[in-house]
Amino acid sequence: MINLPQSIPSTGLGEEAAFELLGMPALQQAADLAAPDALAHMDPPSAPIAARMAYVVAQANQNLLHPATSPFATEAERVVLDWIAPAFGMAWGQFCSGSRLANLTALWAAREAGARFVVASADAHVSVPKAANILGLPYHPVPVDEHGRLIRDSLPDLADAALVLTAGTTGRGVIDNLAPVAAKWLHVDAAWAGPMQFTCHRDRLAGIDAADSIAISAHKWFFQPKGAALALFRKTETRASITFTSSYLARPNSGVEGTRSAAALPLLATLLAWGQEGLAERIERCITIAEQLAQRLEADPRAVLRQWPETGVLNWRPAQADVAAVIAALSGTSSAFTIGETPWVRQVAANPHADVDAIWARIDDALA
Ligand SMILES: Cc1ncc(COP(=O)(O)O)c(C=O)c1O
Repeated sequence: MINLPQSIPSTGLGEEAAFELLGMPALQQAADLAAPDALAHMDPPSAPIAARMAYVVAQANQNLLHPATSPFATEAERVVLDWIAPAFGMAWGQFCSGSRLANLTALWAAREAGARFVVASADAHVSVPKAANILGLPYHPVPVDEHGRLIRDSLPDLADAALVLTAGTTGRGVIDNLAPVAAKWLHVDAAWAGPMQFTCHRDRLAGIDAADSIAISAHKWFFQPKGAALALFRKTETRASITFTSSYLARPNSGVEGTRSAAALPLLATLLAWGQEGLAERIERCITIAEQLAQRLEADPRAVLRQWPETGVLNWRPAQADVAAVIAALSGTSSAFTIGETPWVRQVAANPHADVDAIWARIDDALA
């Protein structure tokens, strides 16, 4: 695929030649996430304004660890956090490179607040048990109901626990019941569905503002280039518990990561360019795409719809044909998810440019 020397060339090829070898092929040999039939994973196409700002960010190469050398980007980060955190009832937050890190950061704060073990549903993202493991906390998975929602009646005593609820599970996109619950710490992993708070579907996230912390991936439904997520916290006092200082630091370092890019700038630019309405319109379109496909699948005797898509994640399988063969035929437009022993086709409406007819044509072909 890539025709390159076997090792670092002793004499460089020059920037033009290097770009020629890598630039266009890297674009051309990548799945087009904005294609009319792209609907495979929780990977939206990035907002064009965000891609442009990401170039500026790379050019300036600011390190937000050093506010004196990144004054504009530091201010931009403060502004975008001030715009987003209050919408979730949170007092402050910080950028992370992904929700894996945001979950780890939040559970670190939970442990510092006295949580002695972590509880989450069996359908929680793998980063939750991973974070518990890193933090040396026992992990207690709780069964899910037939739709994939955490069964509250199965919760242990949470007086010493960090409870993680998920808003948009990875496999089925369901939102756990977010109603407040008595726990030492309540974290909501809203990596996927968090931005629905800015849409007409915000009632589906009712209760999220009672959380102690929330993780949201900006590179999912905020349409950002990869490497951007938010860890949000309800109480400002939390910050001190996950902050370290050092003689070489101009200001204390909060959270797991240190050096970080100005990922806030592309997000700020996107929110400025689109406004709340533009963001909502794109997410709502994604949800409508999933719902329209669900309607067609429900009406088609060749397919079995697993459940109604709550946050744009579809699970279905062919009534007769082999699921693996259908997934292979849908290559690039679907992924797989297993519920119990049963494999299901998974399609995630992360692409607001998707066209229901174009996707249906692929499904129709795969089922033929
Ligand atoms: C529910 C959930 N939590 C956490 C993550 C991890 O997010 P990230 O990819 O931003 O690290 C994902 C990723 O898909 C997810 O679906």
